Amino acid sequence: MKVLELHHSSYTNHQKRGEAMNTPQAWTEYIHLVPALKNAVVWKSLRQWSLSEVWRVTMPGGNTMIAKKGMGENSREAAVYEHLLRPLKVDSPIIYNAISEGSVGILLMEDVKGKSVEENPDGRYFIEAARKLAAMRTEVRSRLANKGTGIKDVFYLKKDKLINDLVHLKKQHQLLEINQDVNLQRALDVLPQHLEQLYKRFPVTITHNDYYPKNMVGINKTLKIIDWANANLSPHLGDLYCLITSAEEYGVSPKEVIDAYRNNVTEELAIDLDWQITMGGICWTIYMLRWLIDYGVDAIPEAKDWVPDMVNELERLLETLS
Ligand SMILES: Nc1ncnc2c1ncn2[C@@H]1O[C@H](COP(=O)(O)OP(=O)(O)O)[C@@H](O)[C@H]1O
Ligand SMILES: [Mg+2]
Repeated sequence: MKVLELHHSSYTNHQKRGEAMNTPQAWTEYIHLVPALKNAVVWKSLRQWSLSEVWRVTMPGGNTMIAKKGMGENSREAAVYEHLLRPLKVDSPIIYNAISEGSVGILLMEDVKGKSVEENPDGRYFIEAARKLAAMRTEVRSRLANKGTGIKDVFYLKKDKLINDLVHLKKQHQLLEINQDVNLQRALDVLPQHLEQLYKRFPVTITHNDYYPKNMVGINKTLKIIDWANANLSPHLGDLYCLITSAEEYGVSPKEVIDAYRNNVTEELAIDLDWQITMGGICWTIYMLRWLIDYGVDAIPEAKDWVPDMVNELERLLETLS
């Protein structure tokens, strides 16, 4: 009781001074941007690393919300929700507040109640994720065709960027294994013509770019996709490539996943699916390698060791093209 009283008196003192209670140190300087958070009674850390932190906050009535702060490159997620997901009506958690200030982006969003597919890797969720991807790509493709220029150019992944990223990667000798630069030069000889085909034959639609079980929350038989920090617009099917790769790791048949995608996507997006998945893998791997070079290697100490394997996978995918 005594403790409660003490707690209570410190609460009122805080309140009298108009300060937020319980706010983690790292949030105090941003709390004025999201006044609702001042009332939070419990903050529980869900994940923290140098470019983002995610908390579950409990409000006085007992409701919970998710507060996510992205730094540097990861601050873009607030803009993704506001200027990409919302206008294109992409199914994603409800956003109560999305704020960008300088190099920080803050999101206050719906707490999706459920377990991630990483925690509960039921095969049916992989099939559902393929269906969901098909529906999302089909819908966004048609909405973009109608809306067109309303969406900011910053979200488009240009094919020239992918080629420039590969050129940049080739020069990262400190991260590459011996001969990988030579192999990457061979990749540069064949990739531009394939990218040309991809961008000519397939329409631009949405790409999540981190389409893995850890970013899928299962609620009964449905899924909610979270963590849109890397989303952009492009014709490549990297999301299906990521989903198949993780399905294999969990012993789920890639064929069933691919069939679920094929059966739920519009015909124009289902052409040459094997080639599209390979190209998706190539585009996604280049995108992630560039991200690792620019941010990841500094932010995640062990990330340096991921580069050679990813380059090998890139080479393997490129070989299947020729
Ligand atoms: N809207 C949400 N509802 C419920 N849990 C969430 C939500 N957003 C994030 N989480 C939880 O926090 C974790 C980290 O969030 P995420 O957005 O994936 O951040 P990171 O960029 O660090 O991967 C997720 O794996 C999930 O467990
Ligand atoms: Mg995540």
